[in-house]
Amino acid sequence: MSDRVVLAYSGGLDTSVAIGWIGEATGAEVIAVAVDVGQGGEDLETIRRRALDCGAVEAYVADARDEFASEYCMPALKANGLYMDSYPLVSAVSRPVIVKHLVAAAQQFGATTVAHGCTGKGNDQVRFEVGIQTLGPHLKCIAPVRDLALTREKAISYAEKNDLPIATTKKNPFSIDQNVWGRAVETGFLEDIWNGPTKDVYDYTDDPTFPPGADEVVITFEKGAPVALDGKPVSPLQAIQEMNRRAGAQGVGRIDIVEDRLVGIKSREIYEAPGAMALIAAHRELENVTVEREQARFKKTVGQRWTELVYDGQWFSPLKKSLDVFIEDTQKYVNGDIRMELHGGRATVTGRRSDTGLYDFNLATYDEGDSFDQSNARGFIELFGMSSKVASRREQGLAGN
Ligand code: ARG
Repeated sequence: MSDRVVLAYSGGLDTSVAIGWIGEATGAEVIAVAVDVGQGGEDLETIRRRALDCGAVEAYVADARDEFASEYCMPALKANGLYMDSYPLVSAVSRPVIVKHLVAAAQQFGATTVAHGCTGKGNDQVRFEVGIQTLGPHLKCIAPVRDLALTREKAISYAEKNDLPIATTKKNPFSIDQNVWGRAVETGFLEDIWNGPTKDVYDYTDDPTFPPGADEVVITFEKGAPVALDGKPVSPLQAIQEMNRRAGAQGVGRIDIVEDRLVGIKSREIYEAPGAMALIAAHRELENVTVEREQARFKKTVGQRWTELVYDGQWFSPLKKSLDVFIEDTQKYVNGDIRMELHGGRATVTGRRSDTGLYDFNLATYDEGDSFDQSNARGFIELFGMSSKVASRREQGLAGN
């Protein structure tokens, strides 16, 4: 049997050409694997048939939408995962689930090598290959665009020469990656970081400047994950999809940042993540109500480290797994409802209620009849400030000498 390569297939020009390109460069048979992480667009059966028409010996489509939402997006939500305080890890969380399916397909079809369509400049090549090495240490990796010199020009002439069933004329000025957790847009005129994004950059969100009337939603969480919207039970996937629709209609979750890539390059990226950003805002506020102060402070540090590990392609690393256990433990009491107003680009929390909260009205109230003994405060402050007071006395003493 000839050597076999599993290719992460999107249905686009580059990976369609890569099927034949890999075959010619390596003599291997190519198995195309498309993973549905809620990217929408073309029907996956169409994509599967195209792979076969482009010369793949097998083509296989994995519907990973529920798995992606539950096992990849929900941990990102529980971590409040925002890289550089802004980017909700849209592409970063999708790579590990794709890797999982690629490695499983390699096993199933007896492939020795996994291929992906990334360039040599980005984070995604690292995420794919570190993931593949970790889950399938026996597997080799190749990246035709990077390692087999498959440029766009060559891809177009190859597709035309070989009559591949893929459009070569449609030139999108942007490089786009999208899934149910959000959408990332880069390149083209956006590379001049003074240029503002134009309307055609956006797809998941409507212009927040002219929003429809405000939309109020009540999100119910259990152990840090959404389980109902306006009282109607939802799966994690449904929660994200529904919030994408409602928050997207209000222009919530548009992000424009210059970010630090793992490979040392700063790059400009536009993101749209209406569902993710609204859910994170709601989740954070419910944590404010339900998570104990010291645990909450420490969780912020853990969440940030978790986010950096995931951004850096370390999803399957031991440290990331240990941090998962900590984060999961903090979510034990993150139950309850958040009321949120979606309007004009903003998702604003307007109410919260929880049976497992730590907010105690009788302690907090400034009205009469509170249960807080204010006479305790004096002594507490005296001791709390003691070490600074002693140190300051020394400073003043030294200054006097
Ligand atoms: N910069 C983001 C990341 O590394 C998104 C990259 C996705 N690719 C794209 N073509 N926009 O996670």
